[in-house]
Amino acid sequence: MDDISFSRRAWMLGIASVSLGVLRQRPAIAGETLPKMTVTRDPSCGCCGNWVAHVRDAGFPVEVVETTEVLPLKTRLGVPDALASCHTAEIGGYVVEGHVPAPAIKRLLTERPRATGLAVPGMPVGSPGMEVPGQPSDTYEIIVFSAGRQSVFARYRGLEQI
Ligand code: CU
Ligand code: CU
Repeated sequence: MDDISFSRRAWMLGIASVSLGVLRQRPAIAGETLPKMTVTRDPSCGCCGNWVAHVRDAGFPVEVVETTEVLPLKTRLGVPDALASCHTAEIGGYVVEGHVPAPAIKRLLTERPRATGLAVPGMPVGSPGMEVPGQPSDTYEIIVFSAGRQSVFARYRGLEQI
């Protein structure tokens, strides 16, 4: 009887991890163990500050570096020109470019793909920090990138994954 309930539990846990789609998953990252994020931004750009508020609300400890020269850092960190946005974040060995939603960053840190990082190119309306009152949210893609390789990591509309 004990054996049966044990194997059933194991089976259900197996199903749970399959449905999450992350078989190599490490334990979920709790708020207090999230690594520090360093965000480089232009002080005159307001949407960057709004995005910093978004990731802080999600539990990330954030250090902000202000500079009017944000491009050299993007180049140094390997952000392709086509994926550039306003601010650039560094966290857990990854680069996070632009208005990437916090849940996608947590997924990045949990799955740890072999990649340089994530990017939301440009400034989609309705992405975190880019909310415009009265204007519908864009649909946008979060790109996982490394040198010479890019693919879609997730698709969002506003703050919701679709
Ligand atoms: Cu922006
Ligand atoms: Cu900005």
